[in-house]
Amino acid sequence: MPTYRIAPSILSADFARLGEEVRNVVAAGADIIHFDVMDNHYVPNLTVGPLVCEAIRPHVQVPIDVHLMVKPVDRIIPDFAKAGANIITFHPEASEHIDRSLQLIRDNGCKAGLVFNPGTPLHYLEHVMDKLDIILLMSVNPGFGGQSFIPHTLKKIAAVRKLIDESGRDIMLEVDGGIKIDNIAAAAQAGADTFVAGSAIFGKPDYKAVIDSMRSELAKVS
Ligand code: DX5
Ligand code: ZN
Repeated sequence: MPTYRIAPSILSADFARLGEEVRNVVAAGADIIHFDVMDNHYVPNLTVGPLVCEAIRPHVQVPIDVHLMVKPVDRIIPDFAKAGANIITFHPEASEHIDRSLQLIRDNGCKAGLVFNPGTPLHYLEHVMDKLDIILLMSVNPGFGGQSFIPHTLKKIAAVRKLIDESGRDIMLEVDGGIKIDNIAAAAQAGADTFVAGSAIFGKPDYKAVIDSMRSELAKVS
């Protein structure tokens, strides 16, 4: 069985109590904190920046996974690294120089990854597999929490799983958007190993009950 990781997205957390929220979700079994950065330019929404990442950093020991939905990307990368990010991903169409942006993330001591919207072609992967620690597939169009999982993503997950396996590299395959207890197993079956979930966890009263149920579903995957 692969190592499965559950990455709650703070987008659905109570921002007035963010430190407590991330502590609670890690105590409930979260492996990673997913940190959605939106700029009201690349996506039609505005969230949080390095200051908030720095503010939650002392509250948790687990990796902070910064998902940049911003354009351009390079200027903000070192700021997030200094703010305590461990993983930084960006959308390839938001960077003029993908190879440079990936290298910049690694030069700043973080794991680097590309994010693909449901309609973004995978050809961006072709010449950068050796610079990737993670590939993030969006299963909704980015910008908002609480949207429904787009089923076609399962085929894309399987295609990327094949590319990763063929590369022989240790690259995480993360899926983001509309992940719930009732579809996490299908995403895992298709080849994902890391699961972002915002509204499914922070939207519910008992974080541990949701995370435990997700793990039970994952345990059933052959
Ligand atoms: C969407 C964000 C997701 C989102 C997931 O643009 O990247 O991380 O918060 O939220 P749910 O799990 O509610 O779809
Ligand atoms: Zn995200």
